[in-house]
Amino acid sequence: MNDIDIGKYFKPNLSEARKRKGEIEHLSFKLPKDLVNLGIEKKYIIQTYGCQANEADSEIIAGILEKMGHEKAETVEDSDLIILNTCAIREKAENRIWGELGRLSKYKKTNPNLLLIVAGCMPQQPIVVEKLLKTYPYVDIVMGTHNLYKLPDYLRQAYYNKERVIEVYSKEGEIIEHLPQVRNHQFKAWVNIMYGCDEFCTYCIVPYTRGKERSRLPEDIIQEVKELVSKGYQEVTLLGQNVNAYGKDLKIDYGLGELLYDLDKTGIPRIRYTTSHPKDLDLTTIKAMGTLKSVMSHLHLPVQSGSNKVLKKMNRHYTKEVYIEKIKLLKEHVPGISITTDIIVGFPFEDESDFEMTLDLVEKVGFEGGFTFIFSPRTGTPAFSFEDSTSQEEKKRRLLALNELINKGFKTGNLRFLNQEVEVLVDGPSKGNPDVLSGY
Ligand code: SAH
Ligand code: SF4
Ligand code: F3S
Repeated sequence: MNDIDIGKYFKPNLSEARKRKGEIEHLSFKLPKDLVNLGIEKKYIIQTYGCQANEADSEIIAGILEKMGHEKAETVEDSDLIILNTCAIREKAENRIWGELGRLSKYKKTNPNLLLIVAGCMPQQPIVVEKLLKTYPYVDIVMGTHNLYKLPDYLRQAYYNKERVIEVYSKEGEIIEHLPQVRNHQFKAWVNIMYGCDEFCTYCIVPYTRGKERSRLPEDIIQEVKELVSKGYQEVTLLGQNVNAYGKDLKIDYGLGELLYDLDKTGIPRIRYTTSHPKDLDLTTIKAMGTLKSVMSHLHLPVQSGSNKVLKKMNRHYTKEVYIEKIKLLKEHVPGISITTDIIVGFPFEDESDFEMTLDLVEKVGFEGGFTFIFSPRTGTPAFSFEDSTSQEEKKRRLLALNELINKGFKTGNLRFLNQEVEVLVDGPSKGNPDVLSGY
């Protein structure tokens, strides 16, 4: 690869990423004809980190690569192209990826033609791009979340000109429809309904890495689900960072609730959606869950904290009371609903009594599962500079205490179904015993 001249690259900028301006266009993907066979006799492997948004993006990356003639490799050793689709949500997630990048350097030595690509949320942060340039000179392509569709161009530069490509856009671009996709499952599918997030919870990097909220058009989503039905798919999971804000930017008085009714008509047997924001969860959506048999009676509704003081500092725009009220409505309208959540402990300002309030809320709601995290300061977010006086030991203690309670709820949730016969979606042989099928 040629020498690095940092100045010439397209690098991200967090204050640009914070801006929420401009119209969004809806365009269609086209692969330039001269790139259709560029990948022939080359094998790729994708390592995906982070949330379902990245899982869905990796299916698109695979789709683009296969459209160019690449084939999927079974192992890293066997690959000509290694793509890390990265996550920036917590420091721990990033450290795992830096470690993996270090480990992969040896393959560059044994295979000089190997291309290493870093994509996804991490490179949306300027400090990450700088570190990649300085410390990982063997990475060939650095791209972000907004320019997946440009991968063929970057590969052209890398294959033909042996040029290193660093291109990360701060601002989200158009919504690109008809991107090729290689889905990872035969019966269940991710379906993006919107991209980005406008919430700016003070701890969170996602609004910077994923850009402003923008919804796909209902007809494009319905069409995609119809096609999935015709291929025999049994379940779709509608994706977005805050799916309850779906449609707001389209200004057509059509939200997630309406979309659920329309998707039910496609005949897809199961519909799920994630992630919900308690503030925007409305009665139309709750009623759709209760009315439509296709919409599964499970909701992941991240609460983050049970203390109003902490919720305010997190910029979550709801109180514990509002949250509990929504849970009440859900339980009323959706019989047998199972509710799971996300909680952060050790957020700056969280004292012992705030934490007790979180435990109390967990108990009251009866969550049947949850993801729990210790607050991880992210450069560029407001909470990064909040004063934090709680020790790491104390944060770990809170996490353990919370996990104990969440695990109890998980067990209670499972016991609800003991000795009952229910319909499940089988997703393959059980991990523990290949003679048994597992489903959910
Ligand atoms: N859009 C989704 C998912 C966000 S990321 C949502 O709003 O729920 C998933 C979870 O990671 C969040 O719900 C939050 O609990 C956690 N999280 C996000 N940023 C974090 C940070 N800086 N430190 C610790 N946990 C964080
Ligand atoms: Fe992050 Fe909050 Fe947006 Fe979720 S809603 S992605 S936690 S900013
Ligand atoms: Fe991670 Fe990006 Fe998802 S930061 S959690 S992969 S939106």
